[in-house]
Amino acid sequence: MRSYNCDHFDSGSMRIRVDYNNMLTSAVGEHGITMEELDEIKPRLKAALNSAEAKRDSMRWRDLYRSERPNIERIKAVAANIRQTADNFVLLGIGGSALGPIAVQQALAHLRHNDLKKAAAGAPRIFIEDNIDPERMAALIDVIDLEKTVFNVITKSGSTSETMSQLLIVVRLLIDRFGEDALKDRLIATTDSEKGSLIGIAKKYGLTAFVVPDGVGGRFSELCPVGLLPAAVAGIDIEKLLDGAQFMDELCSTDEIEKNPALMLAGLEVLAMEKHGANIGVLMPYADSLKYFADWYAQLWAESLGKKRTENGRTLRFGQTPVKALGVTDQHSQVQLYTDGPFDKTITFIGVESFRRTVGIPHAFDDIPNVAFLSGHTLNELINAERVATEHAVTVSGHMNKTIILPEVNEFTIGQVLMLFELQTAFAGELLSIDAFDQPGVEEGKNATYALLGKPGYDEKLAELNSASQKDPKYII
Ligand code: PA5
Repeated sequence: MRSYNCDHFDSGSMRIRVDYNNMLTSAVGEHGITMEELDEIKPRLKAALNSAEAKRDSMRWRDLYRSERPNIERIKAVAANIRQTADNFVLLGIGGSALGPIAVQQALAHLRHNDLKKAAAGAPRIFIEDNIDPERMAALIDVIDLEKTVFNVITKSGSTSETMSQLLIVVRLLIDRFGEDALKDRLIATTDSEKGSLIGIAKKYGLTAFVVPDGVGGRFSELCPVGLLPAAVAGIDIEKLLDGAQFMDELCSTDEIEKNPALMLAGLEVLAMEKHGANIGVLMPYADSLKYFADWYAQLWAESLGKKRTENGRTLRFGQTPVKALGVTDQHSQVQLYTDGPFDKTITFIGVESFRRTVGIPHAFDDIPNVAFLSGHTLNELINAERVATEHAVTVSGHMNKTIILPEVNEFTIGQVLMLFELQTAFAGELLSIDAFDQPGVEEGKNATYALLGKPGYDEKLAELNSASQKDPKYII
C-alpha cells in the first residue's frame, strides 16, 4: 500500500470536499443506503483498492501527473508559439480525445474566450471539433482564417473515421493553399507512438507530434498531451492541474475507507445500483464553468462500466446511465422528475464555494417587495442558495444525492476532480470485476463504419450489415 502523505502539497483551503450524507437512510429514508450495507461492502472495497494498486503498471493514466512532468517544458514551448502566432487553434478529435479538453477549457478559460479580442484573451480562439456534422465543419471553415490557424489532430488509435475524415479535409485545404511543406507548421499530431496511421503521417510530413502513452485510454487521457497541450494553449497552468491530480491520487491511496473519497464514491454508487435499483446517475454542477464536466464524466462512467461480462466471462449486463444536468438551468427542466419521479437514480451535485467573479443584484424596484427582496444579494449567493434548496427538495422527497464542493474553480481543484472521477470509475470496475478500460461496443460501431465506407479488410462486416439491412424497415411515416 502506498503511504498516505499529501503534506508536501500546500493544498491550503483548496481541497475539494465530498458530502455523502444524503445517500444514507438517515437522511433520505427507506430508499437510501443503510449503515449495514456500507459495512458489508467494506471488504469488497478494500479488495478493489488492492487490485487497482496491483494493476498500477497497466493503469498508466493514474501516474500521468508524474510521467508527464518531463514533457511539460516542450508542451509549454509549443503552446507558447501557438499563442504568439495563431489566431485560431482547432482541435480535431472525438470521445476521449475531445471531451476532456472541452471540459477543462470551459472550466479554466474565460467563459466567453472566443469572443474576447486576442490581446485580452492572450490566446487564439479555441475550437474543439468533436463531431462530423457537415454543416458544422463547413461553418468552421467559414469563420477561421487558415493563414492564422494551427490544427491539433488527436486520436489515440490513429484511425478513427471521424477524426481521419476531418484531417483529410484540413490537410487538403492546407496543401492547396500553402503547399505540402507548410503542413509541419500548421498541424500537430497527438497519437500512439506506433499504432495507427497518424504516427506514420506525422513522421512523413515532419509534424510536431505528441504521444498518448501506453496504458492511457481515450477517456483517461486528459492529463497527457491530449489535454495538456490544448490547456496550455488556452493559458491554463498545466503543472497545477497535475498537482491537483497527484494530490487526489494520494488521498485515494489510503485504505482508511472513509477517508478515501474515490473509493467511498465507487462503493456508494455500486450499492445504489446493486441494492436500490439506481440505474441512472445524474451529475449536476451548479456552475457554467463545470457544465462540460458532466459530458466528460458521462463518457467516463458509461463507456467504462457499461459492460455485459465480468473479466472472467460471467454475463452481467451492468452499467448506470449517466444524465447531464446543469444547475440552476435544469431546475426548470429536470428537477420535478428528480423529486417526484421514481427511485431509480442518484444525483451528484457539484457546488462552487467561491466564484471567480461577483455580480451584485442592484436595487431598482424597491417599491415591489416580491422583487425587492433580491436586491442587495449577489448572483453568487443566489446560485448557491438554489443548489442548497434543490439538495433539500431532493432529500426530503427521499432521493439519494451527494455533493462535491470545490472551494473555487482553479487548476488545482480541477485536477482533483479529474482524478477523483477517474479513480471512482476504476475502483467501481474493480469492485464489479469488470474491465473498465475496454470499449467493445464502441469498437463494433467503428468497425461497422469502416465496412460501410469500404475500408479494406472489412468485407465480412459489410456482408453482415447488408444482410441485417435487408430486414423489412417499419416506418411510421
Ligand atoms: O475512451 C475511448 O477510448 C474512446 O471513447 C475514444 O476516445 C474514442 O473512440 C476516440 O478514439 P481515438 O482517440 O482513438 O480516435
